[in-house]
Amino acid sequence: GKVAKKLAKGSNLKIDQAAVIGAGIMGGGVAYQSAFRGIPAVMKDINQDALDLGINEADKLLAKKVRQGRMSEEKKAEILSTITPTLEDKDLNGTQVIVEAVVENPEVKAKVLADLEDHIGEGGVLVSNTSTISITRLAKNLKRPDKFAGMHFFNPVHAMPLVEIIRGEETSDETIADVVAYSLALGKKPIVVNDCPAFLVNRVLFPYFRAYELLIRDGLDMYRIDKVMETWGWPMGPAYLSDVCGIDTIRHCQDVLATDLPDRMSLVEPSVMDALYQQKRFGQKTDTGFFSYQQDAKGRPQ
Ligand code: NAI
Repeated sequence: GKVAKKLAKGSNLKIDQAAVIGAGIMGGGVAYQSAFRGIPAVMKDINQDALDLGINEADKLLAKKVRQGRMSEEKKAEILSTITPTLEDKDLNGTQVIVEAVVENPEVKAKVLADLEDHIGEGGVLVSNTSTISITRLAKNLKRPDKFAGMHFFNPVHAMPLVEIIRGEETSDETIADVVAYSLALGKKPIVVNDCPAFLVNRVLFPYFRAYELLIRDGLDMYRIDKVMETWGWPMGPAYLSDVCGIDTIRHCQDVLATDLPDRMSLVEPSVMDALYQQKRFGQKTDTGFFSYQQDAKGRPQ
């Protein structure tokens, strides 16, 4: 806490508006958290349905607070009105903090990031919410790599306190200060880490997913593993966690890691994650993954 506050003092950023690119699980979550904390957010996607879903999710989170008597209808409407969904790049102009949260694909991200640079306001920063792709690598084609960093949120954004801030080789101290300041403004607990594929948290999580795949390959019951992990005190086992994160995203991350850390993180074959991915069973976002979410209104696995 104290270290973060001290770091944030190096920031001259006036964060009066943020923007997220990609209105999916993560981008939608960051837009909501910004608006909830009083920072208006432009939410950009290439798909109108994704924008509608992003607004809908924010609406649901706020409606729950109203139901619980913790927020008035007026306040809810006021907060929602500060999220601006858009399909147009021009609506990003002048933004002080732009958070990229599109699909976990190095080529797609590199292109999206390069296009975004022209829209950042004077002195502003660009960050990527990538799970695994090296920040130094993503910065390669940027005009201002010093103004770029990793800002890795956790899912669900509104509930998870941690934010990993990743310093690429060329990220400046001031940019780190700016991103720490933005994290604190969002009510999060930032940690600053050096760059490497998967950074800190996913350097731990992805070997865990890999171990899970190996256990299944060895013939263990994949659902039983979830029960055992939950009995041991984990909030959710690996199958349910995968459904929450999105199996498409996990598969993309595995590809990045198999390429960038081949001796440690080569793909497990046959892979149950890959089988689900090929069947487009991406987890909660498609109503089915390891578990089915179709019948149960509470969204509990069946
Ligand atoms: P998602 O699939 O829910 O959302 C991605 C969104 O990006 C979609 O709405 C898609 O239409 C949009 N998009 C794709 N290309 C675009 C473009 N060129 N311009 C604007 N929008 C575009 O994915 P999710 O889970 O939100 O992941 C986004 C990023 O966050 C990925 O890099 C992922 O690795 C990372 N991440 C994901 C976590 C998770 O638990 N799902 C946790 C932490 C990071």
